[in-house]
Amino acid sequence: MNGPILALRGVTKSYPQGGFLDRLVGAASRFVALDDVTLEVARGDVVGIVGESGSGKSTLASLAVGLTRPTAGEVLLDGEPLAALMRDHAAPWRRRIQMVFQDSSSALNPRKTIARCLAETLALRGVPHQAWEAETVALLGLVGLGAETAPRLPHELSGGQRQRVGLARALAMKPDILIADEPVSSLDVSLQAQVINLLSRLAVDLGLTLLFISHDLAVVRTLCSRIIVMRQGRIVEDGPCRDVLERPTHPYTQLLISSVPRGIAGRRTAVAAAATGAAG
Ligand SMILES: Nc1ncnc2c1ncn2[C@@H]1O[C@H](COP(=O)(O)OP(=O)(O)O)[C@@H](O)[C@H]1O
Ligand SMILES: [Mg+2]
Repeated sequence: MNGPILALRGVTKSYPQGGFLDRLVGAASRFVALDDVTLEVARGDVVGIVGESGSGKSTLASLAVGLTRPTAGEVLLDGEPLAALMRDHAAPWRRRIQMVFQDSSSALNPRKTIARCLAETLALRGVPHQAWEAETVALLGLVGLGAETAPRLPHELSGGQRQRVGLARALAMKPDILIADEPVSSLDVSLQAQVINLLSRLAVDLGLTLLFISHDLAVVRTLCSRIIVMRQGRIVEDGPCRDVLERPTHPYTQLLISSVPRGIAGRRTAVAAAATGAAG
């Protein structure tokens, strides 16, 4: 298909605001978390979404993967409205768009081994039982983990390893689109660089369409070709990374860039520098 793999058309998400009494007397207002957002993502794009905390980045992500439904507007996967696709529970689209979260510890069941966790995901994809072991080893290899990780429990792994497992689990579904919501924010700088390198390599090798949510402009710059800047539920700037970061047109983007320590246009923060360095 030639159209966008993912599109949002006039998507708004609002939540009721105010207490019970306000609502009772009809005085409650609604808080708009995402405000009339329209965007298209082309197949194979690596898009960075940045913006201060509360700007609606995670809301956008959860609408795109169907975890929440828009108050208005529609989300389209390969031109098909998600709302229609969701009516079919066994729908294959669920496999096609996967998400990695900031804190992989809370996303993994503490009582299940890594092998079990990945096997359950493979089962969901319909992979036959006999193939689980080989696929698990292959998946772990893909994210730079050895087969010895398989029998471990999440708490026996480091934060960086758990984040890789989270990624392996998402990849087990063979997604076309991967949304990573601040996937490295809970890791220390050297681990951040490793995971970003990994994402960058996987996006190319697997031809993934990647939406990378981050508040770190320097990281977005190393990883992404396009950047979307969000503020108060709206997209304020959207364009090629280089253009947006070197010639920001919106005052908010200028503010974001100037608030990065040491600047960003010519220099990079430690993470981005380490990521490029490690990539060799
Ligand atoms: N379930 C909810 N109920 C009420 N408000 C919410 C809910 N989810 C998110 N919000 C609000 O929507 C805004 C955007 O949140 P979010 O998308 O998580 O921002 P970001 O990921 O950019 O930090 C925030 O002000 C948040 O408090
Ligand atoms: Mg968020």
